Amino acid sequence: MPMNDHSGKITHEQIRIHGKSDFAGMRKAGALTARILDEIADHVFTGQTTAELNRIVENKVDQAGARSATIGYRGYRHASCISVNHVVCHGIPGEKKLKDGDILNIDVTVIVDGWFGDSSRMYVAGKLGRKAERLIQVTHDSLLKGIDVVKPGATFGDIGHAIQSHAEKNRMGVVRDFCGHGLGREFHLPPNVLHYGKPGTGPVLQEGMFFTIEPMINLGRPETKVLPDNWTAVTRDKSLSAQFEHSIGVTKDGCEIFTLSPGGRFHPTWQSKSDPAAPQLP
Ligand code: MF3
Ligand code: CO
Ligand code: CO
Repeated sequence: MPMNDHSGKITHEQIRIHGKSDFAGMRKAGALTARILDEIADHVFTGQTTAELNRIVENKVDQAGARSATIGYRGYRHASCISVNHVVCHGIPGEKKLKDGDILNIDVTVIVDGWFGDSSRMYVAGKLGRKAERLIQVTHDSLLKGIDVVKPGATFGDIGHAIQSHAEKNRMGVVRDFCGHGLGREFHLPPNVLHYGKPGTGPVLQEGMFFTIEPMINLGRPETKVLPDNWTAVTRDKSLSAQFEHSIGVTKDGCEIFTLSPGGRFHPTWQSKSDPAAPQLP
């Protein structure tokens, strides 16, 4: 997710409008991203490392004959970002073992025939704690409430407002420092998709726009800082953070979600087969 420059300025860059065959391209890229995120669920457990999870993601991208969009992106070297507990986003996979109750976001972006599929979900190692469960639920529902308002004529401010209202009603903090983005044949395109805002403000949505919505919600304050590795963003108050991301396209009367889970595992994906301690789907 790009940094928000906090200028508050509405983009004057052109937001690209896509046609029918472009939707078909995004559908394929999104489907692969979603399948990989489905399949990784069974590999998340206590004692697992995020480096191993990343290796599995990278192999799956290779096996599908696709490319990882993140390897080589601005010097990033991995096929996923894996953000554990108070890491907000851009967590770098490493050899540290997951502990019982750790929550993690896995964010994967692939390129299929030149089209970008970008999505992320939450997972848990071992037994999910009550507070973490609430955070994950509210974050997931915030994303869906944002997606719900997407249709031609609505504005990006409407999306941000829907997300912010739900998170703040639940006394959680919406991260301002990172945002969603346009995408398509490139990874990050205009506009910046803010996860907070006022109804009726910002660019007007039009059929054929492609972008991500990827709210990061904290149990505590919204402020973040980036660690000296120049990637890892964490909550300043060390509170837990969660995120879900979909890539979507605006249709005649709503939107198409390109990264829907084929196995119905988008939420919650934490009832992994390998993890009998995990709660079952409601
Ligand atoms: N997938 C992230 C996003 O949602 C971007 C990751 S860039 C990386 O926009 F270099 F950190 F991988
Ligand atoms: Co994104
Ligand atoms: Co992403």
